Amino acid sequence: RIAYVNGQYVRHSEAAVHVEDRGFQFADGVYEVCEVRHGMIVDLTRHLSRLDRSLSELRMAAPMSRAALTFVIREVLRRNRVKNGIFYMQVTRGAARRDHYFPAEGTPPTITITAKSTDPSAAAKKYANGIKVITLPENRWDRVDIKTVGLLPNVLAKQQAKEAGAQDAIFIDRDGIVMEGASSNVWIVTPDGELVTRPAEHGILKGITRTTLIDVAKKLGLKVVEREFKTEEMLAAREVFFTSATGICVPIVEIDGKPVANGHPGTVSSSIRDTFFDVAE
Ligand code: PDD
Repeated sequence: RIAYVNGQYVRHSEAAVHVEDRGFQFADGVYEVCEVRHGMIVDLTRHLSRLDRSLSELRMAAPMSRAALTFVIREVLRRNRVKNGIFYMQVTRGAARRDHYFPAEGTPPTITITAKSTDPSAAAKKYANGIKVITLPENRWDRVDIKTVGLLPNVLAKQQAKEAGAQDAIFIDRDGIVMEGASSNVWIVTPDGELVTRPAEHGILKGITRTTLIDVAKKLGLKVVEREFKTEEMLAAREVFFTSATGICVPIVEIDGKPVANGHPGTVSSSIRDTFFDVAE
């Protein structure tokens, strides 16, 4: 396997950044994860636009032009022979002696890109069986709209889910409002057949898959409503599912030990999933 690190393609086993990298010391960096299907990068433009936004919210400069970045991403995929899989791209504020203030102007950002092939049968199993989740109190900062590598609450939530015999966790705020999953956005299908997801202006990451799914749902003639909903409404939903670049429409069949509807994946999420790649560029 090959990784890209600051201008060079290196063996994955030897790919490294400096010990005083600000990503390592302060989680002072941002990232993107994209899916690759049949050799095509799903929603690349939207992911690159979100990366630009994350960088600018943290007052970090773009490491290179969009054209150059696209070239490097494709080169990493080519060198790893990824036809179906994902790539991960991270940009940090660079390496400098540890100091909370921004490093001196001109300190180059650190950029790394890795890619891997994924097993389509594992994904198929996840879609066919659905997953179990637990709910947890929201304990993250209020800028989760920025896709930073500061993911400690998410890591702890996922591990807690795993130890509880589930696969994932959903953050719930103090008022009982459903925020998002530890690495995905949450959707419900109401008993009336409405497709609901919470607004993404603040409090959650505005998922690229979420945005594309809204287009897909409209194409299918489904009614999409962006509004907040609470845990009780989610528990009473006909379907509940997650969206993320690594799981287009993952059915949730159990929440805190209680089945969602009849405890089996629903038809709305599967029909959206079947149409998704016709709409995503
Ligand atoms: N996570 N919310 C959170 C907290 C996320 O970490 C992610 C993605 C999403 C969905 O965003 P998108 O549809 O653009 O992937 C929502 C990636 C996959 C990850 O951290 O691995």
